[in-house]
Amino acid sequence: MKKNWLWWKHGVIYQIYPRSFYDSNGDGIGDIKGIIKKLDYLADLGVDGIWTSPINQSPMYDFGYDISDYYKIDPLFGTDKDFDTLIKEAHKRNIRIILDLVLNHSSHEHQWFKESASSPDNPKKDWYVWHDGIKGKPPNNWLGMFGGKAWEWSPIRRQFYLHSFLKEQPDLNWRNRELREAVYEMIRFWLDKGVDGFRLDVINFLLKDPQFRSNSFAFGPNPRPYDLQNHLHDRNQPDNHDIMKELRKVTDSYPDRMLVGEVYAPFPDPLLSAEYLGNGKDELHLAFNFAIIHEKKWHARVYYSYLHNWYKSLPKDGWPCIVLSNHDQSRSRARFGPGKQGLLRSKVAAAFLLTVKGTPFIYYGEEIGMDDGKIKKDQIRDPVGKKYWPFNKGRDPERTPMLWSGEKNAGFTCGVPWLPVNEDWEHTNVEIQNNDPLSLLNFYKSLLTLRKEKKSLMQGEWLPLNEGKENYLLYERKWEDESLLILLNFDKKEQKVTLPAQDWKILLSTAKRERTHHSAYIFPEAYEVIIMEKNKE
Ligand code: GLC
Ligand code: CA
Repeated sequence: MKKNWLWWKHGVIYQIYPRSFYDSNGDGIGDIKGIIKKLDYLADLGVDGIWTSPINQSPMYDFGYDISDYYKIDPLFGTDKDFDTLIKEAHKRNIRIILDLVLNHSSHEHQWFKESASSPDNPKKDWYVWHDGIKGKPPNNWLGMFGGKAWEWSPIRRQFYLHSFLKEQPDLNWRNRELREAVYEMIRFWLDKGVDGFRLDVINFLLKDPQFRSNSFAFGPNPRPYDLQNHLHDRNQPDNHDIMKELRKVTDSYPDRMLVGEVYAPFPDPLLSAEYLGNGKDELHLAFNFAIIHEKKWHARVYYSYLHNWYKSLPKDGWPCIVLSNHDQSRSRARFGPGKQGLLRSKVAAAFLLTVKGTPFIYYGEEIGMDDGKIKKDQIRDPVGKKYWPFNKGRDPERTPMLWSGEKNAGFTCGVPWLPVNEDWEHTNVEIQNNDPLSLLNFYKSLLTLRKEKKSLMQGEWLPLNEGKENYLLYERKWEDESLLILLNFDKKEQKVTLPAQDWKILLSTAKRERTHHSAYIFPEAYEVIIMEKNKE
């Protein structure tokens, strides 16, 4: 491999929601064989790794985020052998595999929980968070994020157990050494198989206040009761960082592996995410900062502030990652809007994602500008949507099937898809965009190709030349004697932009524009992306 090149730092990661990617056997649910069939598509797109949302055995109360056997692949997704094939085939194409590890909780059907719940004398009695309660009531005011109290009474143990999410997702007790070692052993099992990294689910939730103090009141972004608490005592405990260090040690005992953490906060906080990187070498390799996903306003200044706040929060040896969408939030396309304008904005956002400093994460379908799906009440599958409809429609809209072609069900399945296929599938799909040189998909491909050629894009410094007030972003990426200038016009009007006094050659543009040289100024069209390179003489 290229010198100093680290796949998780300088490569591009693609997130797959396995249920919705590609169904190989017609049961309407995407599966591992389906992912294998699409590896050539991903290699052609040019990604360096894929992260799959959970594929372990699960009763699917939270669609895999409730694992009943960490060592097994759920039969819905395939066999253990299919997974081995996936690793082999992905590696053949230089694509790394990142598994989703859900460590805050297991399923209530996990053998560990069954044992723990069976009696207060069981050897695994303390593998979950149990409490006697106070006079028959839960010990504090903690709530489940998906509704109701966070405590569930067990008539057998005559105690309450804690669940930060559904009652079918009991929280593991990370204060228990045996539990920790059992988890680390499981992690080694996957690393031994050749898994390249893990995305760590709600990693800031692991430890809870040992005194079980109640949370105080807070203002939240929506009226969900859970978000109206200040989660002082059931998230972000300082000793979480000891666990991050242990996880890092386990991972680093294998070469070239990576941990990326989901750090949840209702108002995303770059400083909190950065905390989970420790000194940049001793905790997680990467952590998500979702601030831009929560940002509905389309303006260059907003995107500038996102980067500025993120970069300045990082520890000296820390490395950022950038993400515009995931399986829990409305898709980026839904923020950019429909039609031609939405498509042009998607191109600006794609260039932002792939040319700023940090590891880009692409959410499946983002590369074709997939929008949120329209889900009717009787089509809701997500427990969040079921609970909070209509004020919170849940997470099904961003989880609808990938749009592959003009065939039935957009080529996703020959059966009945588990969620409806987006209405505009005949116009927005991979097949159409593959054949259109001006499509978003082909724009992603050219950006990914350029990233591979230009070290400054993968590894270089990010040097902003403005702060976005004028509704465009102009920044340089530099590596040794290579220097790229990126211009993103967020505005719907043409602008005049002054360039640093150098000879700049245009490498790429989203408008019909000659690949000529510029030195004093340039006039980007509405929503135009221009990438230039400094003449080395
Ligand atoms: C994370 C996941 C989400 C899941 C929750 C509980 O936020 O991304 O999908 O429901 O954790 O595991
Ligand atoms: Ca299937």
